[in-house]
Amino acid sequence: MIILGIESSCDETGLALYCTERGLLAHALFSQVDLHALYGGVVPELASRDHVRRLVPLTRQVCDEAGIELAAIDAVAYTAGPGLAGALLTGAMMARGLAWALQRPALGVHHLEGHVLAPMLEPEAPEFPFICLLVSGGHTQLIHVQAPGDYRLLGESIDDAAGEAFDKTAKMLGLSYPGGPALSRLAETGDPANVSLPRPMMDRADLDFSFSGLKTAAITRYKAFNGKQGTSDDELARFKADLAASFELAVVEVLIGKSRRALQQTGLSRLVISGGVSANRQLRQAADALEADGVQVFYPRLEFCTDNGAMIALAGASRLQRGESSDLAVSVKPRWPLESLMA
Ligand code: KG4
Ligand code: ZN
Repeated sequence: MIILGIESSCDETGLALYCTERGLLAHALFSQVDLHALYGGVVPELASRDHVRRLVPLTRQVCDEAGIELAAIDAVAYTAGPGLAGALLTGAMMARGLAWALQRPALGVHHLEGHVLAPMLEPEAPEFPFICLLVSGGHTQLIHVQAPGDYRLLGESIDDAAGEAFDKTAKMLGLSYPGGPALSRLAETGDPANVSLPRPMMDRADLDFSFSGLKTAAITRYKAFNGKQGTSDDELARFKADLAASFELAVVEVLIGKSRRALQQTGLSRLVISGGVSANRQLRQAADALEADGVQVFYPRLEFCTDNGAMIALAGASRLQRGESSDLAVSVKPRWPLESLMA
């Protein structure tokens, strides 16, 4: 069975063809980063309009790459939520329209289920059950994944998501959008020991996170340093790098500390880290160190950490194989808790 996957929940248009027998056949992505960089964040209306421009050419591109005609597509999976309503609707309309024209089923997929299952696209895919640390721009969650479709939320951020905190802190430091990768690059040149920042919620036994206070602490430290009389440009540049390194280390230590706790509490020994922030090198290094304690760690390849069509095609395939389908209505859910999939 060949499934076309369509991702359009935010600022990336992702298309992919996944075959249940042969694996991933082709994938293509258009990132709107340059479009939104001018505004320092995603402008929803611009995002929707650009998805409309990209969806058809990218569909043609993946079909050409895979060497198949549209008629060879057996089903279409699209991101139905959570995400920006207008952006979601563009992918949903495309998916429903194409599926109707081809007389094939279409299925709305949960974006976070795509991220959770993304490591299954790799040759060394994790076996079930596992703990998933899902760290993206919109979510920070620890999920007990018993099987595909069987998700129990163990903890989540009570305010900013990790990626959001990276982006906001980076913006304050004057770094380019999206801030996560830029802040991480700057952090490589800094020394975290020179600026101390808190480790929020680490003293609590639960598995929830909070990154808003950490972001505010970083901003306060920066303003205080920047406001000092006689600070040279060089000193400020060095402080910014140290602050970035300290911020990154604080986020990583909290994410890994709580993941370790989730593994201990559930008795599981497999950890999947996915979502945009799973591309972070320090996070990966810290997670890999868990292997000394017998934990197996899995990630998607770098290009599938951030939003993409391949993970949506895969999540759609998994649901279709379990006999799911949905009616012809074009519906999207900008807010949609992952756990509701089990209801
Ligand atoms: O999963 P994703 O593409 O979109 C959402 O579903 O939110 O994640 C995007 C987030 C952004 O906040 C971005 O700054 C962050 O992932 N990100 C990173 C890195 N690469 C992407 N954060 C820290 N370090 C990185 N290397
Ligand atoms: Zn995402």
